[in-house]
Amino acid sequence: MLFQEKIHELLKKEKIPAELLQAPPNPEMGDYALPCFTLGKQYKKAPQEIAKQLQAKFKPNKFIEKIEANGPYLNFYLNKALYNKEIIEARHKKKTQKETIVLDFSQPNIMKPFSIAHLRSTMIGNALYKILKQEGYKVIGVNHLGDWGTQFGKMMYAYETWGNKEDLMKDPMHYMTKLYVKFHKEAENNPSLEDKGREWFARLENGDKKAKAYWELFSKLSLKYYEKTYKRLHVTFDSWAGEAFYEPQLKGTIDLLQKKHLVEKSEGALIINLEKYNLPPCIIQKSDGSTIYATRDLAAAIYRAKAYKFAKNLYVVDVRQSLHFQQVFKTLELAGFPWAKDCIHIPFGTMNFEDGVMSTRKGIIIFLEEVLDKAVERVEKIINEKNPKLKDKKKVAEQVGIAAVVFWDLSHDRVKDITFSWDKVLDFNGETGPYILYTHARAASILRKAKQTKNPNYAKLSTPQEKELLKQITLFEEALQKSADQYKPSILAKYLVALAQAFNDFYEKCPCLTEQDKSLVAARVVLVKKTKETIKQALSLLGLEAPEEM
Ligand code: ARG
Repeated sequence: MLFQEKIHELLKKEKIPAELLQAPPNPEMGDYALPCFTLGKQYKKAPQEIAKQLQAKFKPNKFIEKIEANGPYLNFYLNKALYNKEIIEARHKKKTQKETIVLDFSQPNIMKPFSIAHLRSTMIGNALYKILKQEGYKVIGVNHLGDWGTQFGKMMYAYETWGNKEDLMKDPMHYMTKLYVKFHKEAENNPSLEDKGREWFARLENGDKKAKAYWELFSKLSLKYYEKTYKRLHVTFDSWAGEAFYEPQLKGTIDLLQKKHLVEKSEGALIINLEKYNLPPCIIQKSDGSTIYATRDLAAAIYRAKAYKFAKNLYVVDVRQSLHFQQVFKTLELAGFPWAKDCIHIPFGTMNFEDGVMSTRKGIIIFLEEVLDKAVERVEKIINEKNPKLKDKKKVAEQVGIAAVVFWDLSHDRVKDITFSWDKVLDFNGETGPYILYTHARAASILRKAKQTKNPNYAKLSTPQEKELLKQITLFEEALQKSADQYKPSILAKYLVALAQAFNDFYEKCPCLTEQDKSLVAARVVLVKKTKETIKQALSLLGLEAPEEM
């Protein structure tokens, strides 16, 4: 960029538009070329003559080594040593923005297992958390737990009727899932069970002691189990305020909307009529007096605006909830909150399954833990075959296995649906997490062996592979910024694949360990070091760790 600007400065003196500057098709023709065809009017000469005249006028400087007319073109050759050095030695400066971004992500539903379906919200959210922080924002990660709602009533009834504490404590998540499935099966033949569930939930909403104690028990057991998964994935939050947190604020929220004359009564329920905006009504209280998901989201947004004074309030949630968010955001706008426009749904496509739909009610669930375990197991097997003497085998297998699953998810554009298949997730060939990690380990291995880093001559980095690798390194900043602007970790993931490919091409063609020219070796080794650091940093922004050896 800096170098391009130096050429622009020269052009400006002659009032030549900077847009004319091109990248020539082959490097013998310089790093930049100015075609002189359109300058005839200005100079009243043939293009060849103009090129010659400009060559005489423009003097090379510290940044531009040579300026040469070639037919109707004026070619610029950069000072390669300086140019390459700038790239290799550039320090990534963290920006500082003053703005706060609230990021609502992960949000598992209490009493339900952490299924593979929650991987998307958790890991897309986690990557955005890190990427936005790197871009200098103050980010508040909120885990808006699904810890309130009629499902609690159902579980309480099921537990009272069929459950016992001993079995619950042995394996809480599987046991609660079993009870939940049983409830729905029984309710098919006996619809009155639904009423029982509602009664229990009403008891909870009315502050009944026994119901409250059950709620606490089920929540505590679920959270303990989620924490294990979060720890494994290195995911953290600044706030765990879930749906239950807003319970005391719901009445005030409904009152506030009533005062603004937004609330209508419809068949006993309280609704915000959104017909004018082509949206179905936003229900804020059901006819039995209980509140729902939307009421809690309204309260949550109002709370966040006060508590954090956010510049943006982002929701990383499945695209199937986009109507819900349109209703909530519209209601906030009608209520006159100027920040309603800063509430944004960051949708992601649905995770489908090769053998049909997952359903907690039917007990068809793929536990995330199980997916991670399988991936790690497969990696361990490969390590035992290929590199049995590897240090910290267990730890490396864990890092690579998790990277396989997470990178598979993150490398897809989030708005696309993805289909979970064991084969695809565990495929370690191609544009995958293990491939990137392997590339990083390969770079680390070169650095362990090659000690020569003194007096690098960066001008000697001139093969197409070296140039491509240098170029890829300069693109990191841009990929990071695009990822942040579009809230898309996939942009960074795709960049990482391109960088890894450029490095592997370089690795094939440009030896570091056998090359005799010392100042070239030194330059290559420094380039390898820079590449390794860039891969590691980009991976860490995606929430992944990179082992030094694998
Ligand atoms: N727990 C919900 C679910 O799994 C997602 C919550 C999203 N966040 C929000 N503020 N509504 O479907």
